Amino acid sequence: MKTLKIADGIYMLTLNVEDILFEGIWEIRNGVTLNSYLVQGEKTALIDGVIGWDGVPETLYKNLEEIGIDPKEVDYLVLNHMEPDHSGWISNFKKIKDDITIVCTDKAARMVESFYGRDNVRIVKEGDTLDLGKGKVLSFHPVPNVHWPETMYTYERSTKTLFSCDMFGAFGVMTDHYFDDELTPEEIDFFELEGIRYYSNILTTYTPSVRKAIEKAKTFEINIIAPGHGPVYRKNPEKIIDDYYRFSLYAKGAGKDEVTILWGSMYGMTAKAVEYIEKILQREGVKYNKIEMPKETISEMIATVFRSAGIVIAAPTYEYKLFPPIATALNELGRKRITGKLAFRFGSYGWSGGAERELHEIMERNKMQWDLIESVEFEGTPREDDLKKIEARVLELIDKMKEKVVEEGQLA
Ligand SMILES: Cc1cc2nc3c(=O)[nH]c(=O)nc-3n(C[C@H](O)[C@H](O)[C@H](O)COP(=O)(O)O)c2cc1C
Ligand SMILES: [Fe+2]
Ligand SMILES: [Fe+2]
Repeated sequence: MKTLKIADGIYMLTLNVEDILFEGIWEIRNGVTLNSYLVQGEKTALIDGVIGWDGVPETLYKNLEEIGIDPKEVDYLVLNHMEPDHSGWISNFKKIKDDITIVCTDKAARMVESFYGRDNVRIVKEGDTLDLGKGKVLSFHPVPNVHWPETMYTYERSTKTLFSCDMFGAFGVMTDHYFDDELTPEEIDFFELEGIRYYSNILTTYTPSVRKAIEKAKTFEINIIAPGHGPVYRKNPEKIIDDYYRFSLYAKGAGKDEVTILWGSMYGMTAKAVEYIEKILQREGVKYNKIEMPKETISEMIATVFRSAGIVIAAPTYEYKLFPPIATALNELGRKRITGKLAFRFGSYGWSGGAERELHEIMERNKMQWDLIESVEFEGTPREDDLKKIEARVLELIDKMKEKVVEEGQLA
């Protein structure tokens, strides 16, 4: 755990967490940070909380002591979000100071009671303020469904700091650099991809609410964005706002100028055509990613498909349906409401086929509205004429993809 000063009287306490499944599902290969913030006026407020995944806040206490604060001196716990990655420390904290005041929305207050028992809660509404003294004034701004119904922003007026919790967050641990102006070009790229991983795994289902939260963020004068996961933005807070807007477009079918081949093959028949299209993509100078299911994790699959403007689905027929790992992958993308992607499917079958029908069933059931280029199915091994058809459709995909591409900087 690390303690950093981010402005006069404002500190960040951040903890790297690795080797967990986030939300009990998502493999996070580059870990995640949990950030909490301390705002000191005459009174002291702790915004969100960080603890070890085991629920023990000893490190939090140690870090408070490092900046000269006795945990008993904390007057308010501001809860932007009830999800236990930000609130799981409450029970433990109360052992030290039972009469602490928790500041949160009305919806969160109900959850505080149901998750942690009755408590001393101050419910806040849009624009309510908390004057901590010495010029530090917090104001509260609900942003429902980013990521649960009770979520809010907290804004500190004198330093123009927005504490945004899950909004503007990213996966990826931080080692030496914690602020946007400290990041190397490689780290900037790393946190962009980890931001996409975070958005696509955790927030994409709530894209309409994220859009509203982006609009709300733009109504503040902002010097610093201090999220609950990932780096603090103090040099260019607009960048993460623009990035989040771009990610919200990726959720609706836009993507980077790259193709993802989402594929699976039992005995290598479909795989032969995958190899063939790789040569075409290389020849055409198109950047591409390969995601083989079920070998790849669902988390990485979602993040990679999400950020791509063109998708190739390569999967055979299995028991009169689509090869199950690919059906599972597409269902997950549907559940995440990732809509409007441009895609082309091909695959092998032995006697009846059936994969194609299930592909359309999955699209319909999840209202995915993907733009599907006509599929190519072949019996057994792909023949010359099958490969020619596949080539033509891949070239069609590359051409149509141009309309879907949204890269960084293109929206300014
Ligand atoms: C367990 C299993 C179930 C299959 N079910 C079907 C089927 O219902 N209909 C069909 O046309 N082919 C079926 N096949 C045949 C495959 O679709 C065929 O072997 C195809 O070439 C496999 O492509 P792949 O090597 O890329 O996995 C099945 C194959 C296996 C191993
Ligand atoms: Fe959350
Ligand atoms: Fe979170």
